[in-house]
Amino acid sequence: MSDDHRLTVRDLDVYYDQVHILQGVSFDVGAEPVAMVGRNGMGKTTLAKALVGLHPAGAGSVTFDGRELLGARPYKVVGAGIGYVPQGRRIWPALSTHEHLRMVGAKPGSRWTVDAVYDLFPRLAERRRVGASKLSGGEQQMLAIGRALLTNPRMLVMDEPSEGLAPSVVEQLVGTLRTLVDEGQRVFLIEQNLGFATEVGERVLVMVNGRIAADMGADELLADEEKQNLYLGVS
Ligand SMILES: Nc1ncnc2c1ncn2[C@@H]1O[C@H](COP(=O)(O)OP(=O)(O)OP(=O)(O)O)[C@@H](O)[C@H]1O
Ligand SMILES: [Mg+2]
Repeated sequence: MSDDHRLTVRDLDVYYDQVHILQGVSFDVGAEPVAMVGRNGMGKTTLAKALVGLHPAGAGSVTFDGRELLGARPYKVVGAGIGYVPQGRRIWPALSTHEHLRMVGAKPGSRWTVDAVYDLFPRLAERRRVGASKLSGGEQQMLAIGRALLTNPRMLVMDEPSEGLAPSVVEQLVGTLRTLVDEGQRVFLIEQNLGFATEVGERVLVMVNGRIAADMGADELLADEEKQNLYLGVS
C-alpha cells in the first residue's frame, strides 16, 4: 500500500537538448506543504514541467499515490490528481473569467465547482464577465489557481504564483493558500519570494544548478542569513 497522495521524486534527470539541467533530483511531498526556492535559471520550472508531463524526463522516477507518472501525458497526470499552476499563469486571453472556469468545469463529486472557486476568490465572481487579458496580475493568478482546483487535485503544483504581484496581493494569496492547506490540500510551491515560500511551506527545498542543495525547515532557513545568501543571494 502506498502512502495516500504522496509525491515521490527519485533520481530525476532532465535534459534540454544535450544540456543536463536536472541532475539526480530526489524529494518527497506528503501532507506537509513543501516550497522550492532557487535563483533564476536553476531548473525549477524544468522540474515542474517534468512532473506534470510537459517536458520529457531523461531518467528517474516520479510517483504519486504509488503510481509511476514519469513520461505520462499531462492529462494523465491531472487525472492522477496533480493540479498545475504554470509560471506566468498561461490564461487564455480570448475567454472571460467565467468561460475559463466553465470550460474546465467541475468533476462529479468534487469539492470544487465554479461557485466554490468564486467563494474562494470573490474578486473573480465580480470579474466573471471580464476578458482574462483585462484582469490584473493578481486576478489572473486567482484564475489560474481556480482553474487548477477545478481538476480536483490531491496535490497542487504551483510555479512562482507571486511573480509580478504587488505585496498586498501576495499577502492575500498567502492567506488563501494557507486556508487550502488547513483544509487538507497538498501543496508543492515553487517560489523565488522567500517570504511567500516560508509562509506557505513548512519545509523548503533549495535548488542550485539542477540539484537539491538543501532540504530544511522553513523556520531554519528564515533564521539563517548565511544560507539565504549562499543559496539565494539575498540578505
Ligand atoms: N526551452 C529551453 N531550451 C533550452 N534551455 C532551456 C529552455 N528553457 C529553460 N532552459 C534552460 O534550463 C535551465 C533551467 O531553466 P528553468 O526555467 O527551469 O529555471 P527556473 O529555475 O525556473 O528559473 P526562473 O526563476 O527564471 O523561472 C536554464 O539554464 C535555462 O536557460
Ligand atoms: Mg521558472
